[in-house]
Amino acid sequence: MGIELLVNMAYVVAAVLFIFGLKMLGSPATARKGNLVSALGMFIAVIVTLLDQSIIDFKWILVGIVVGGAIGALVARRVEMTGMPEMVALFNGFGGVASLFVGWAALYDMHDAHTFVLITIVLSILIGGVTFSGSMVAWGKLSERISGKAMVFGGQRVFNILLIIAIIVSAVMFTLSTGPATSIYLYLVIGLSLLLGIMLVIPIGGADMPVVISLLNSYSGLAACAAGIAINNIILIVAGALVGASGIILTQIMCKAMNRSLSNVLFSGFSAVSASGTAAKIEGEAKAMTAEDAYYVLEAAASVVIVPGYGMAVAQAQHVVKELQELLEKNGAEVVYAIHPVAGRMPGHMNVLLAEADVSYDLLLEMDAVNPRMETFDVAIVIGANDVVNPAAREMEGSPIYGMPVINVDMARNVFVMKRSMASGFAGIDNPLFFKENTRMLFGDAKEMLGNIIKAFS
Ligand code: TAP
Repeated sequence: MGIELLVNMAYVVAAVLFIFGLKMLGSPATARKGNLVSALGMFIAVIVTLLDQSIIDFKWILVGIVVGGAIGALVARRVEMTGMPEMVALFNGFGGVASLFVGWAALYDMHDAHTFVLITIVLSILIGGVTFSGSMVAWGKLSERISGKAMVFGGQRVFNILLIIAIIVSAVMFTLSTGPATSIYLYLVIGLSLLLGIMLVIPIGGADMPVVISLLNSYSGLAACAAGIAINNIILIVAGALVGASGIILTQIMCKAMNRSLSNVLFSGFSAVSASGTAAKIEGEAKAMTAEDAYYVLEAAASVVIVPGYGMAVAQAQHVVKELQELLEKNGAEVVYAIHPVAGRMPGHMNVLLAEADVSYDLLLEMDAVNPRMETFDVAIVIGANDVVNPAAREMEGSPIYGMPVINVDMARNVFVMKRSMASGFAGIDNPLFFKENTRMLFGDAKEMLGNIIKAFS
C-alpha cells in the first residue's frame, strides 16, 4: 500500500471524526464527547500531515507548538465564561491570518502556477485578511477596548463598494501577472482586505456582535478551505468547508431567534436602530419584594419555570439555582428551565452553565416547548435575563426587538425578576415586564438573592 493511500485513508478517518464530533455537539448530553472526538480527528490530521509533507525544518514547528500551545492553554484556563465570545473572536482571527500566511507562503514554492490555484491563493489571502482584521475589531468591541456601539458615517456603503472593487481589480491584476509572491498587487489585496474586515465590522454593534462572531467563524473556515485547495491538502479543504458551513448555519439560527435577516444585522447598525426606535414610553411603577416574600410564594407553588440569562453567568449563580431547584422539588413542585436560543452571550451559554451545575438535560425546555404552557406555571423566576423575556417584542410595534420570539414569562401567574437595577439588557432597550401587575423585582446580585431565598427555605 502506497504512502499516499495511507495518508488519504487517515484523512478520511479524521474527516469522519470531525463530522461525528459536530453531530454530537448538537446536544448538551453529548457535546463534551463531541469536542473530544473532533479533537482526536484534528490530532490524526496534524500527525499525518507532519509525516507526509516534506518538512524542511521541524525545529520551528516544535517552537510553534510549544509557544502557541503554552499561550493557548494559559489563556483558555484564565478566561471567564463571560469572556468566551472574545476568545472565539481571537481564535477566528488567528485562523484567518494563518490561512493568509499559508496562501502567501505557497506562492514562494510555486513556479508557473495554474490560474485556478492562483485564484484559490488570492481567495485564502483575501478572506483570511478580512477575517483577521474583522475579528480583531470584534474582539476590541466585545472586550470594550473600543466602543461596542455601531459606528456609521455618511457614504460608508459607497466607500465599501469602492473598496471591494479595488480588491477585485488588484486580485485580477495579480492573477494576470502570474502571481509572484512579492507582487505589488498582492500587497494591495492584503492591505485592502484588512481594511475591508475593519469596515465590515465597525457598523455592527450591541446585541448583533455574537452573530458577527459566528459569521467570522464561517469566514475563517472558507479561508482555510481556499488555503487547502491552494496547497492541495484534502483535510484542510474538508475541515474548512465544515467550519464554513456550520458557521453560516449557526449564524442563520441566531438571526432567526432574533427575528432579523442577516443583511439587516450586517448593514443596519443595531444601536443606531435602537436609538431611533419609536416604541411607546413605558409607564407604571416596578414593585420590589424581598427574598423572604419570594420564599412564601415559592413555598406554596406547584410549578415553577426558571428563565436564566446573561446575569446568571455574571453572578455565577448556576450552582445556587440548582440548589433552589432541589429545594422546590423536595417541596413537591415541578421545576423546569426555559432556555432562549440567544440567552447570554454565545450559543448554548445557559446550557453550558447549567451542565456545570449538573442540572439534568431533561429539565431544559426550549422556548417553543415552554411558551404554550406558560399560563400553567405558578411562578416564573427570571434570573439575570432581560431582552429574551421582553414582552415589547410582542406588544410594542416600533420597538427595535418587535417580532423577536421571546419567552412569555409575563403570562405566568407570578413573575420574579432577579437583577441588580432597572438597567436595560444587551439590546439597550426598556422592558415593560418590570412594570406588569404580576411582576415583582428582586433587586440584587442573582447569586446572593438566590442564597437568601434558600436560607429562608431552610
Ligand atoms: P441581557 O438582555 O443582556 O440582560 C442581562 C441582565 O442581567 C441585565 O439586564 C442585568 O441587569 C442583569 N445582570 C447582570 N449582572 C447581574 C448579576 N450579577 N445578578 C443579577 N442580574 C445581573 O441578557 P439576556 O436576556 O440573556 O439576552 C441576551 C442578549 O444578547 C440579547 O439581546 C440577545 O439578542 C443578545 N445576543 C445573544 C446571542 C447569543 S448566541 N447568546 C447572540 C446574539 C445576540 P442589571 O445590570 O440591572 O443587574
